[in-house]
Amino acid sequence: MGRGAEYSFVRHLLVELSQDARCVLELGCGAAVYRPLFSSKHYVATDIPNSWYQSKGDVDVFASANHLPFAPESFDLIFSQAALDYMPDTRRVFRESYRVLRPGGRFLVITYRKSVLKRIHRDSANTGIPHCAIYTPGDLVEWLQEAAFNAVEVPRPSVYDGAAKQAWIKMTLASIRPFGTVLRMISNWRIVLGTKSGSAAQ
Ligand SMILES: C[S@@+](CC[C@H](N)C(=O)[O-])C[C@H]1O[C@@H](n2cnc3c(N)ncnc32)[C@H](O)[C@@H]1O
Repeated sequence: MGRGAEYSFVRHLLVELSQDARCVLELGCGAAVYRPLFSSKHYVATDIPNSWYQSKGDVDVFASANHLPFAPESFDLIFSQAALDYMPDTRRVFRESYRVLRPGGRFLVITYRKSVLKRIHRDSANTGIPHCAIYTPGDLVEWLQEAAFNAVEVPRPSVYDGAAKQAWIKMTLASIRPFGTVLRMISNWRIVLGTKSGSAAQ
C-alpha cells in the first residue's frame, strides 16, 4: 500500500453514510486506505497516476475526477479525502459527481480549512506536486448547490453521534498527552456533504 492517512472520524462517517449503499466511489484515493470498510460493497477507487501516494493495486480506475468514466447514476456514495484541493476544476468535479450519483446518493468531501490549504499551496512550490484550489467550506456548499446538490457543512461535533461519539470520547480521554495534537488535527478538517435529491431505488 502507498502513503495515506486514515482517520477514525472519517471511518465513522463512511460507515454511517454507506449503510444502505451498494456502490461506492472514491475520488483522488491515493493509497485507498478506506478500502477495507467496503469489502461487502462494490467499491471503486479512482485517481490519476501518482507514484508518491499510490502503490500497485491501490487504484481500480485511473481517471481524473474532472472526467469520470462511469455511466450516469452508477454510485450511491462518493467521497474524497484531502484531494479536492488538488483537482484543477472543483465545479466540474461536482458536476461529474452529480452525474454519476444515483438519486438520493451522497457526496462526502473531507478537506482542510482555508488557512491549511493556503499553507499547502505555498509549500507546493517546493514539493513540485501541483496544488490547485484554496476555498472555504462555504465556497464548497455554494458550488455543490450550483451543481444541483442539496449541500451543508457538517458541524464537526454532531458528527460524533452514538457509538462514534463514545469511541471519540474514549480515544481523547485515553490520550491526555497528545490531546492537544488530536484536537488541532481534528480542527484542521472541514466536512461538506452534498445530497442528490430523489429517492434511492429499492
Ligand atoms: C494529498 S493526496 C490525498 C490522497 C488520499 N485521498 C489520502 O487522503 O491519503 C491528493 C490526491 O489527489 C489526487 N489527484 C490530483 N488531481 C486529481 C484529479 N484531477 N483527479 C483525481 N485525483 C486527483 C492525487 O493524485 C493524490 O492522490
